[in-house]
Amino acid sequence: MKKRILTTGGAGYIGSHTTVELLKAGYSVVILDNFENSDRDRVARLPLIAGTADVRLVEGDVRDAQLVADVLKHHKIDAVMHFAGKKAVSESVADPLLYYHDNITGAVSVLSAMRDIGCNKLIFSSSATVYGNTNHLPTPETVPPSVSNPYGRTKLIIEEIIDDTAASLSNFQALSLRYFNPVGAHSSGFIGECPRGVPNNLFPYIAQAAAGIRDYVQIHGGDYETSDGTGSRDYIHVVDLARGHVAAVEHLLSASTNPTPHRKVNLGTGQGHTVLQVLQAFSKACGFQIPYRIGPRRAGDVAASLADPSLGLALFHWKPMLGLEQMCQDHWHFQKRERNKPGSGVRMPLCAHETASNHLVSNETHPLTAGSRDVPN
Ligand code: NAD
Ligand code: UFG
Repeated sequence: MKKRILTTGGAGYIGSHTTVELLKAGYSVVILDNFENSDRDRVARLPLIAGTADVRLVEGDVRDAQLVADVLKHHKIDAVMHFAGKKAVSESVADPLLYYHDNITGAVSVLSAMRDIGCNKLIFSSSATVYGNTNHLPTPETVPPSVSNPYGRTKLIIEEIIDDTAASLSNFQALSLRYFNPVGAHSSGFIGECPRGVPNNLFPYIAQAAAGIRDYVQIHGGDYETSDGTGSRDYIHVVDLARGHVAAVEHLLSASTNPTPHRKVNLGTGQGHTVLQVLQAFSKACGFQIPYRIGPRRAGDVAASLADPSLGLALFHWKPMLGLEQMCQDHWHFQKRERNKPGSGVRMPLCAHETASNHLVSNETHPLTAGSRDVPN
């Protein structure tokens, strides 16, 4: 029988790409999302991209532990991927309590629901930000964490909460995946990252500058100790990252016993690129030079960040395949489709859809899912 995965935040940037790869790998998926940073259009596109309609949507808040427990029980979930949460470093500095409340409450809610229902496989979206300003490059998971902002601290605290929970329960197994810099988009151009407002991150900013939405790219610092003075990062194609989740969940579901109930694993490529190298590659992808200016450093930035990805390879045989050129091409392809779309989005029918107030009832149906959804109570 097909295994069924719950993706909290599955309508978001990384969650939607992972949902597609899970569907393609033969899993059944239930998405739980409150759409605070995504929209229903993106979910509607997933069955079309994946070529299968075995995906359901529950609209609701992951901080509602009773809702999460009901979803786990009703849909007989085999494993949870917990993506939902807030992710903007600068917002977390301005409003740390919002981040501590939302991110930690969400994780505690997921863990308590899993404990209560007896669902015992978890994948958690952690971040390379837990390494802070380390000089140990490339960085293996054994480097002691050192966080420098509230967002990063929520990731570290949640990893520790998972440590304690896993130790208290028999047969509980978890992987915290520490993402480096996820970029790019699905090659179809149907899903990608759509930041609201002015983008903080490099790729969406460059894409908007290339599309003429921004006048130029402001490079934050040209005096770092890197090959050309600009900051260096380990960018990873979001589809490679998504495939990393599939490999990780396969590992969890196939392991009957595990001496280490909770492991932290880097998801990066082990290749670093500077801001100027990214600009050059992106300019090549779109066929013209993207204007830029070099300004002062951005507060809180590190000079360089680089993964040691060997543990993921050893544990679940995952290896990223897509290079910088592909990341830029796919990101640009998505940006062009977004720019050319009439109105705010391509209108497509919704897939099986449930709401928090009546979360076991499918009230809107994608033609592809009609007849295959669970019977409403
Ligand atoms: P995203 O904002 O695109 O996706 C998060 C999704 O969760 C959104 O669809 C949002 O609507 C949903 N959500 C938020 N709060 C919710 C709640 N309380 N209940 C239900 N749904 C909720 O973010 P993303 O880039 O896809 O990131 C996913 C995860 O990966 C996050 O936990 C983030 O911290 C982590 N991460 C992201 C990056 C990155 O650069 N994108 C890097 C490291 C780690
Ligand atoms: N940069 C610019 N101009 C911009 C935006 C970024 O020069 O307009 C530079 C930054 O200074 C940095 C590099 O581009 O050198 C990458 O910056 P991003 O903001 O894209 O990414 P960060 O490495 O700063 O942070 C990201 C996420 C964090 C996450 C971290 C590690 O935003 O949430 O990766 O995963 F924690």
